[in-house]
Amino acid sequence: MAARAAATRYDRTTIVLHWLTALLVLVLFALAMLWDFVPHDLRKQMQSLHISLGIVLAAVLVLRLAWRTTRGRRLPLAVEGLQGKAAKAMHYLLYLLLVMQVVLGFAWRWAQAETFQFFGLFPLRFASVRNRPLSDILGDLHDVVGWTIVILAGLHAAVALVHHYVLKDGVLQRMLGGSAP
Ligand code: HEM
Ligand code: HEM
Repeated sequence: MAARAAATRYDRTTIVLHWLTALLVLVLFALAMLWDFVPHDLRKQMQSLHISLGIVLAAVLVLRLAWRTTRGRRLPLAVEGLQGKAAKAMHYLLYLLLVMQVVLGFAWRWAQAETFQFFGLFPLRFASVRNRPLSDILGDLHDVVGWTIVILAGLHAAVALVHHYVLKDGVLQRMLGGSAP
């Protein structure tokens, strides 16, 4: 496996948006895993926070994709061959699943016929009719896609850590701040 030296890094905006995405996904998932174990009122607040942060994730994702397709720095594959292609496929899959998850989240809330609150600042109301069967399907899909994202992102992070601590080839530095090596 010929590793290309990390001669350069992603630009600052790409790096900030990458880590913001990772943090939001982690918090969104943790909230959903924990809210079943807390009293009703707190559960409602956590679900409301999940929606608000979900709206933030949607905005971050739009910005990220817009930045990537316009001014964002796109680096050549860090490693050549099959491994590089697998990394690229993983990145595209993560983008696709993130977009799907945002769409499913909005659609589920819409089918629940409940208000979107954005940090309690303003309600977003959409004309929607409560649709139980549709809501159940969207909920199941949102659950499955959520787990898939977390598992694949975990794998992606583990590979990044192997590059850093075992292969020591500078791949992780591409997504970290600081001056270019
Ligand atoms: C939910 C969490 C995460 C998501 C959704 C995610 C998603 C992505 C995506 C889509 C890319 C491709 C960037 C591009 O070229 O457009 C990327 C790159 C990268 N990510 Fe993540 N990531 C996550 C967490 C992490 C974590 C925890 C680490 C480190 C431990 C990490 C390390 C990296 C590195 C080093 C790159 C650059 C790889 C390269 O240059 O080939 N990511 N990530
Ligand atoms: C990658 C980011 C996300 C992950 C990992 C995630 C994960 C989850 C999980 C695991 C659940 C629980 C599913 C169940 O109980 O069967 C859930 C519930 C939910 N999520 Fe997400 N989600 C994410 C983003 C979003 C976004 C962007 C929205 C849209 C604003 C959203 C809206 C919802 C709604 C409406 C619920 C149901 C809450 C309720 O029962 O009142 N999620 N999410």
